[in-house]
Amino acid sequence: MINITINNKAVSVPEGTTIVNAAKKIGINIPTLCYHPDQMLKANCRVCVVEIEGYRTLQTACSTFVKEGMIIHTNTEKVRDARRVVVELMLADHNLACDTCAAESYCHLRRIASDLGVREPRFERVLVPYAPHINDVLSKDRTKCIKCGRCIQICAEVQGLSILDFMGRSNETIVGPAFDSELYDVACVSCGQCSAACPVGAITEKEDIESVWAAINDPNKVVVVQTAPAVRVAIGEEFGMEPGSIVTGQLVSSLRMLGFDYVFDTDFTADLTIIEEGHELLKRLKEGGTLPMLTSCSPGWINFIEQYYPELLPHVSSCKSPQQMFGALAKGYFPEKIGKKPSDIVSVSIMPCTAKKFEALREEMSVDGVNQDVDIVLTTRELGKMLRQAGIDFENLPEDEYDAPFGISTGAAVIFGATGGVMEAALRTVYEVVTGKTLEQIDFKDVRGLKGVKEAVVDLDGTPVKVAVVHTIAKAREMMELIKAGKADYTFIEVMCCPGGCIGGGGQPNGANDELRLKRIAGIYQADADLPIRKSHENPAIKSIYDDFLKEPLGEKSHHLLHTHYKNRKKQ
Ligand code: SF4
Ligand code: SF4
Ligand code: SF4
Ligand code: FES
Repeated sequence: MINITINNKAVSVPEGTTIVNAAKKIGINIPTLCYHPDQMLKANCRVCVVEIEGYRTLQTACSTFVKEGMIIHTNTEKVRDARRVVVELMLADHNLACDTCAAESYCHLRRIASDLGVREPRFERVLVPYAPHINDVLSKDRTKCIKCGRCIQICAEVQGLSILDFMGRSNETIVGPAFDSELYDVACVSCGQCSAACPVGAITEKEDIESVWAAINDPNKVVVVQTAPAVRVAIGEEFGMEPGSIVTGQLVSSLRMLGFDYVFDTDFTADLTIIEEGHELLKRLKEGGTLPMLTSCSPGWINFIEQYYPELLPHVSSCKSPQQMFGALAKGYFPEKIGKKPSDIVSVSIMPCTAKKFEALREEMSVDGVNQDVDIVLTTRELGKMLRQAGIDFENLPEDEYDAPFGISTGAAVIFGATGGVMEAALRTVYEVVTGKTLEQIDFKDVRGLKGVKEAVVDLDGTPVKVAVVHTIAKAREMMELIKAGKADYTFIEVMCCPGGCIGGGGQPNGANDELRLKRIAGIYQADADLPIRKSHENPAIKSIYDDFLKEPLGEKSHHLLHTHYKNRKKQ
């Protein structure tokens, strides 16, 4: 342990602790902008400076490690002045348009400027004119960029892609893909991790909130909404609630208050995915199909394999993601049930993910080639904004329940929200289908948690089946290399694009780190444990939809509505 003094208070912390973290131990939050606890240290912004006795200059608290006997001051006049100058210099070339900024509700720069009492910036403002780059998924506005580098690092260190980097000098420095290209023109997977890590409004999702209001206000439309598993343990953060709080009931109430006609749950089609994907796996095992089979729920991961490893596409399950299975049923099954046409339905989804916006627009994701199965995708962050626009007191809402039949689901479906969840849900079903026995111990703890690659072996009546789970694109790449080298001795592999799975999606509340992701994961497993039915094949609504409509897993209707194909989109 190292003994130091911070603001005249003695504190002991383990060797290797930074001043930022040592200060936290005694209840002092030093302001930071470029610092991110999951990323390598960079010390780009200088907003975290502190005074250390015996040092001639101020030091950055995020990158300075404590030393025995250090005497640190975090709140002197000199420190406050220096921090103010740093922020004023940032604002000097910043497009300060907070009232119209997408990041207004979480912007760290705005909060720090306000806390430091920066009212009238002293420096002349020099703005480089620039039009934001906006594609169907993300909006990138360099006039809001403070060059902190968090997006660069998450793309390189977590996703292993390095799509973004610094370019230029001085106040002409910009952050973006090589040659300031559009993100669609480079091999970006649309995961949105950069937007979730950006502390300001320089990278955000493309907003689709107005399209949802227009649909709700159209008396000729029936607007149905689905909510992904991971949203229920994160949307509370938008309203100051503890990460991981399970707010499913309030989420349903709030969507009804916004005016959606039917509030459904993506968990229903997560259960359906397990039935279809489980049978696809058994078919491949029986008929000698391509193995290991890879899951297909995560559109950022699909974007990756299509662009980087198209030769491995035969390994990918043909199942659509739960979002798209839901959309296909919302347009291909539900309208008839309520005496409407597919074109009368507007299908909206609330997703933790920015890549879902891309997935919904794919030409393959339309049952009739005219109507998209999912019309509009909102991220968790966008839903937070929409609820604030409507003045909804989310935390104090009474709980409500999803509508039938697409609101009935199981614990197996809710764990789709965390890395390992799809695999665990599949094992709960595949075991019982293959062996005909009841699975007594349904918690597969080996595939839970934040470890990058997880493995488990399941005994299917004497046949050991080895499975693996990976999350993040960097780990997916490692796994693809193993498959290419013929060294992946697995039968089934779950791949999720984002750190921690969907709970760490690029559309979730801004600024997640591993500590926070673990709280969301705990919420997911608690939601599973709280449900009366925890195996997908025991969902009564799933049994009914097969009896009533789909008839059998992998049948003709399933083939038409619930399965798809992916293609080589390698950039030359
Ligand atoms: S990024 Fe922050 S400081 Fe800049 S305009 Fe947006 S809210 Fe204001
Ligand atoms: S969306 Fe993902 S892949 Fe694309 S630049 Fe951002 S972090 Fe990188
Ligand atoms: S885009 Fe955002 S995260 Fe990236 S350098 Fe600029 S301010 Fe930082
Ligand atoms: S937060 Fe320490 S230098 Fe940016």
